[in-house]
Formats: sequence, C-alpha cells, structure tokens
Amino acid sequence: MALLDQYADRGSVVLDPFCGKGTALLAARLLGMTPYGADIGPEAVACTQAKLACVTLDQVLEYIGGLETDSPDQVSVTDDVLVFFHPDTVRQLLSIRARLLGDCASACTSTRSAARFTLGILLGILHGHASYSLSIPSAHAYSMAANYVRTFASQHGLERPLRDLKDCLAKKAIRCLSKPLPDVGAGEATWGSALELSELFPGLVGQVDVVLTSPPYLNAQTYAKDNWLRLWYLGHEYRNIHARAIQTGSIRRYSETMKRVLEQIYLMLRPNGLLICIAGDVRLRVKEGERTFETGTHLAQLCCTSNLGFQISHSSDDEVSRTSRYLHALSQSNGHRKRALVERTFVAHKL
Ligand SMILES: C[S@@+](CC[C@H](N)C(=O)[O-])C[C@H]1O[C@@H](n2cnc3c(N)ncnc32)[C@H](O)[C@@H]1O
Repeated sequence: MALLDQYADRGSVVLDPFCGKGTALLAARLLGMTPYGADIGPEAVACTQAKLACVTLDQVLEYIGGLETDSPDQVSVTDDVLVFFHPDTVRQLLSIRARLLGDCASACTSTRSAARFTLGILLGILHGHASYSLSIPSAHAYSMAANYVRTFASQHGLERPLRDLKDCLAKKAIRCLSKPLPDVGAGEATWGSALELSELFPGLVGQVDVVLTSPPYLNAQTYAKDNWLRLWYLGHEYRNIHARAIQTGSIRRYSETMKRVLEQIYLMLRPNGLLICIAGDVRLRVKEGERTFETGTHLAQLCCTSNLGFQISHSSDDEVSRTSRYLHALSQSNGHRKRALVERTFVAHKL
C-alpha cells in the first residue's frame, strides 16, 4: 500500500501479473486506483476476484441465504479430502459448488459479484483453525498433506467439526464487510499466464500506469501443491496447475522465462509507466553447501541487461520479520528454515 501511495495516483491503472490472492490489488482498490491482475492459480484468481467484487454485506448475506446446502451434485470424494471435513460438511460444500461456480460467471453483475465474494470467503475458511473454519484444525495459509493430518489427528484426538456452511460463510462475510469497501469502477482478475498479458488484457496494452508485482521466486516449487484442497473444491487437480506455473531451480531457465514476462510488462505499460517489483532472497543448494540467490537483484539486472527499455530509478531491501505468518507456514510446509528473509524492491521506468 505504501509503495502504491508513493508511486501512483488516484485513478491510476495498476496491473499485477502474478496477483496471488490479491493483496496488492486490494491496496490499489482502497487507494481509489483501477486494479487488474492475473495468476496461473485458479484459487488465487478466485480470492482476488472476491477482493475486487463490488458488494454490500446485505447483498452477500442474501446470496448466502439463498444457497441450497442439502442436494449435492456429486457425493463421492477421495479419502484425502475426507480427512479434513465432516461428511456432512462435504455434502453441504458439494451442494452449493455448481451454483456458486456458475454464478461467478453470470452476466448479471450483482449475482456475479455476490457469488465471487462468497466463493472467495469460502476458499478462505475451507481450512484453518478459526471457529468458522470448515476443516479439522489445520493450517490456514496452505493445504496440509492429508497423510500428515491423518496421523496428527489420530495422535492428538482431533475431530472433523460438524459445521453449518451458511452460518460460517455469514460469519466470515460479516467480518470482512462490516466496514464497506470503496466501489471500483473497472478492474478485473483473470486466470492466465503472465507470459500472455497482452492477450489476457488486449484493451490495456500501452495503458497501464503501474505494474506492481511479486513474481514467483527462483526455486519456489509449491504454489499449486500448497493449495491442493482449494483447487479440489474448484474442480482442479493441483498437478495440472503446477505444470503451467513458473517454477524452476535453474537460473538459466528462470532468466529466460522472466525476460519474456518483462517483455510483456513493457508492452502493457504506458510510456514512462512504472514497474515496481518485490522479490525475496532464496537459498540455493550448491556443491559447497548453500548460497543465497537474490531474486530481486537478479530481476533488476535482467531489466537492465536485456535492452528492453527499462531504467531502474530506485531500489531498497527490507528484512521480513521471522514472526511473519506466511514465513512460518512455509517453514512447516516445504522445509524453508525459519531464518529472516530479505525482500528486495526495485522501481523501473519504461523509457
Ligand atoms: C510470490 S507469489 C505472489 C504473491 C502475491 N503478491 C500475494 O500477495 O498473494 C507468485 C504467484 O505467481 C503465480 N504464478 C506462477 N506462475 C505464473 C504464471 N506463469 N503466470 C501468472 N502467475 C503465475 C503463483 O500462482 C503465485 O500466486
């Protein structure tokens, strides 16, 4: 939010090509800017669309009230899914799924917005340990491995809670919308690759004031796996999403791919438009042991050396606190150690 406040104005068109769950675009919305985003993760796009939806609490509560929770379109689910949810919760979840997904694409704006908001909060409460989380107590930031949860639950006597889905959705909606969000005139989040921005947003080519993004880091391999349960709900197998994401431990392949992304970003920006890029350091295993790879510094160098037409105007480093929730989650999910993480930010102008 501080970066947008510093580098963009009210009304600016802001694009995040790796929008994740929409943090940057929500900030843009709150600052009166026009937010656009893309991500290869359908669950990420659904959460971003919820953050961009123009809805009131009353509209969402009415929409939730109208959902039918006792007629599942499909009843069989894998044992891995059943580790997390009470069978009655699964029945309720599957009962509303087809309608919810259909309404998210409705031509009626108010139905579409209410459905998108509802789907976003459903994905938000699908697993976690809040009183309205739908699963057995488990991590919220990422979907835990079913085998781990199965063993942990039996060792610690954890039970899958019996939840009233509509009641939990309503509680979460009240939490999120008790303070109304400002309207957003235009803006959209789209499922697709940052390598195809000009095809995803043809009307924005040469029109974007600011690209603000945190791209996939070198060696980050788990975006899809970390969301396997949310992807299950949306009807996707995480391995298929994994195959389309930018994720490699090879510096050469990473550089080639990110250069293509930078070309797309350049195309989308207006003359003198800004790219603000934030990326954390990662640890690389090398013959001698481990070394730090500064993803942000590498991307800034790529901007300068690729003759794309960018000029770096600012760069800074920040240490992310060890107590950061997401870092803590990562340390459990994929072996990242709980060491401090340095995030590097650079700002580049399109010449
Ligand atoms: C570092 S995360 C972004 C986090 C985001 N700023 C947030 O606050 O949630 C990188 C994102 O890039 C996405 N991603 C990976 N490959 C992609 C691609 N080819 N096109 C678009 N998004 C991609 C991942 O799904 C992930 O959400």
